[in-house]
Amino acid sequence: MKVSVTTIGLSELDVDLLLLPVRQELTDVERGMLADAVGAPAAQAEADISGAFNRNVLVYPTGKQARRVAVLGLGTPAEIDLERVRRVAANGARIAAEIGAETIAFHVPDTELDAEAVSHAVVEGFMLASYRFDRYKTSEEDPKPEIQRLVLHAAQQDRASRRGADRGRILAESVASARDLVNLSPDEKTATQLGRLIERSAKKYGYTASVWDRELIAEEKMGGLLAVNRGSTEPPTFTVMEWQPENAANDRPIVLIGKGVVFDTGGLSLKPTKDSMDQMKSDMAGAAAVIGAMEAIARLEMPLHVVAFVPATDNRPGENAYVPGDVVRMHSGATVEVLNTDAEGRMLLADALSYAKTYKPKLVIDVATLTGAAVIALGNDVAAVMANDRNGGRERLDAIEEAGRRSGDLVHRLPMFDFYAEQIKSDVADIKNVGGREAGTITAAKFLEHFVDYPWLHIDIAGPSMLGSNRDYRPKGGTGFGVRLLVEYLRELADPRRRQG
Ligand code: BES
Ligand code: ZN
Ligand code: ZN
Repeated sequence: MKVSVTTIGLSELDVDLLLLPVRQELTDVERGMLADAVGAPAAQAEADISGAFNRNVLVYPTGKQARRVAVLGLGTPAEIDLERVRRVAANGARIAAEIGAETIAFHVPDTELDAEAVSHAVVEGFMLASYRFDRYKTSEEDPKPEIQRLVLHAAQQDRASRRGADRGRILAESVASARDLVNLSPDEKTATQLGRLIERSAKKYGYTASVWDRELIAEEKMGGLLAVNRGSTEPPTFTVMEWQPENAANDRPIVLIGKGVVFDTGGLSLKPTKDSMDQMKSDMAGAAAVIGAMEAIARLEMPLHVVAFVPATDNRPGENAYVPGDVVRMHSGATVEVLNTDAEGRMLLADALSYAKTYKPKLVIDVATLTGAAVIALGNDVAAVMANDRNGGRERLDAIEEAGRRSGDLVHRLPMFDFYAEQIKSDVADIKNVGGREAGTITAAKFLEHFVDYPWLHIDIAGPSMLGSNRDYRPKGGTGFGVRLLVEYLRELADPRRRQG
């Protein structure tokens, strides 16, 4: 989709569909714009236009360039925030798809919010809602032309709208990359293939990537990753990505880690199929989020030194699969008693977390579809976030929750009291890989904390990584959750003064 910004008159926008957002109780300026956009039909249309959120009216202009105008309800001024703007833009995208419009103009509403952030939100919401995954469709039941062009109509020529539109497009495209990876059939994303896809992304967007094979992983003694991989016929990979600009604001790197379980059968502790194993192609959604974030970071040329790891394998009950009772020696040298082979994510994340120590990182953030308990606790709209106590854990939690609210990828903290670690004490090894039913999301985080000696955030995205039904600008399937969150959090780290509306 091509995105541009224009300031020509509303009546001159030569497009299939012009999207015109208005407030509940139209202002005089909005009434004037409506008349300008549709001509004579404005008088009649006004009676149907309430401006309430999710109330949209389609009008056919006379004597104007635009073929159709959809008036989109924004709601009351007090309700208007960036998330509302994204959702209104998503409503516009839905109407565009219904009528098969190929060229769309969107009038950027004048609000109290920062102009760059509003343009960003419009483009992001519109593009994210227009996302389709049709790689495997051989016959279109209902052929729809693709949206070719989105023109932002801004009140005045300003660099802010243009910058916002560019950021919005880059973010939406990076989220789409992550969604594509999650939606991809598992037989097209083995650990080796995922490594290749990362190499291709790195080349395309200008960061570096190096993919380790099984030998290198064994040389590094990543016992957790190797143990999970034992039931597979496919070798594991460990991919290291890096973005190191000359103007980096940090001297010690920020490390991102994404769980890359390309398919999770549960291993010998096999999952049931329905509503469980049938979702598990999304068990690399953490990896997808990190890859999408690296694409955005490089394309936005963010002034931060960022390193990212994706430990990848499938988890299967093959002949040589690891078994409950196995004691595994991890990369850190610690021993883990495996009591459930389905708690595999923490095994490979632990190796990545302990390898991260070699970078003396300023901060490490891991993103993982780690526990079903996180879905039970917070549902499908919010991810769980946990931190260790080192160097201002509370401030990090405040900052990531704020970044969540600004970006639309919501996160909420869970506690990390010391006593939770008692649930993962083992009789035979240093720790065991399951902590029982209670507080399952937290005991998983406590397991990971065992391998960490630097400031750290852990984000469990099991809930929001994949949806069973459409929600606003998130279509069902892979959501790309985490890309916008990570980029927004890192943007704040690079420049704490720059908070957007
Ligand atoms: N990949 C799953 C977690 C998951 C569940 C992700 C639902 C997305 C949706 C993870 O590997 C897993 O199986 N976790 C177990 C841990 C348990 C055995 C301690 C779980 O949550 O049941
Ligand atoms: Zn599992
Ligand atoms: Zn898993």
